[in-house]
Amino acid sequence: MLILGIESTCDETAASLVEDGRKIVTNVVSSQIDLHEAFGGVVPELASRRHLEAIGPVLREAMTKTPDLIAVAQGPGLVGALLVGINAAKGLALGLKKPVMGINHVEAHLYGAVMSHPHVEFPALGVVLSGGHTALVRMEAVGRYELISTTVDDAIGEAFDKVAILLGLGYPGGPAVEALAKEGDPSKHAFSPGRVKERPLHFSFSGLKTNVRYTIDGRDLSHQDKADIAASFQESALGDVVKKTIRASEGCKTILLGGGVTNNRRLHALFEKSSLPVLWPKPELTLDNAAMIAGLAYHRFPLDGPAKDFSIPAHPRLALEGNTFSW
Ligand code: KG4
Ligand code: ZN
Repeated sequence: MLILGIESTCDETAASLVEDGRKIVTNVVSSQIDLHEAFGGVVPELASRRHLEAIGPVLREAMTKTPDLIAVAQGPGLVGALLVGINAAKGLALGLKKPVMGINHVEAHLYGAVMSHPHVEFPALGVVLSGGHTALVRMEAVGRYELISTTVDDAIGEAFDKVAILLGLGYPGGPAVEALAKEGDPSKHAFSPGRVKERPLHFSFSGLKTNVRYTIDGRDLSHQDKADIAASFQESALGDVVKKTIRASEGCKTILLGGGVTNNRRLHALFEKSSLPVLWPKPELTLDNAAMIAGLAYHRFPLDGPAKDFSIPAHPRLALEGNTFSW
């Protein structure tokens, strides 16, 4: 089954053809980093307009064959950005007389790791570490989930992006903080990630970011000072993720990771102490892409079927509750 995936949740316009949930035939991503970096973050209105310009060329490049099904990320994301991908998907489905369905972007990030490995043993502990989301999810199979914990404030990638701004680094901040941290001493500052009352596996990163701000405010920082702050922040944030993941993985056979923060090499090093196999997404499946959307749709289509009456509402928020990814 050949599936066309479309992704436009945030600042990447992407389309991809994937065969049988795994074999990537094409994978085209048009990034908007150039557009947003001057603002230090994504400007929603500008993002929507750029998606409109990019979606036609991206689809033309990716669609080297006619797909059997069209799958589009319907959230969570920026509503104006989502509408561009969703309407393109509906238009194509009408024109090609093919079924169309909506896919959850966060669930697709987790599928990126499944798609990257020929065999995954379940139950697995899924870990989403992206710019918009931080979550631990127990997976019985693709499509069967139970939420364990999430962040009560900032997502981990967002914390990296905000600390990068405080340190005068560029956007997106994650890679810049990681590069600077390599020159710093991670034990220089005792930053502590947030603890959430009575929910020991939940995350909170906004206090950590405030710690960093107080360390920076009113001081004239040398390059070495900044590197020490970057290293201490990174160690604290990633150490918290690894500790909670390992604690939550009891009874699981595998740890699966997804999202842009999985590009961080220090995170890979910290997970080396895990006694369970840790499965990472392939590099092309870490940041936002449409191959993970098309890949996941291969498993969701038999469960959900096509969108009825072409109804695919854009969902800005994720409510991962109980045993499913819902809206
Ligand atoms: O998964 P993604 O492309 O977007 C969302 O769905 O949100 O992740 C983007 C996030 C950004 O916050 C970016 O700063 C972060 O991933 N990121 C990193 C690294 N590379 C990207 N964070 C830490 N270290 C990195 N090397
Ligand atoms: Zn994403």
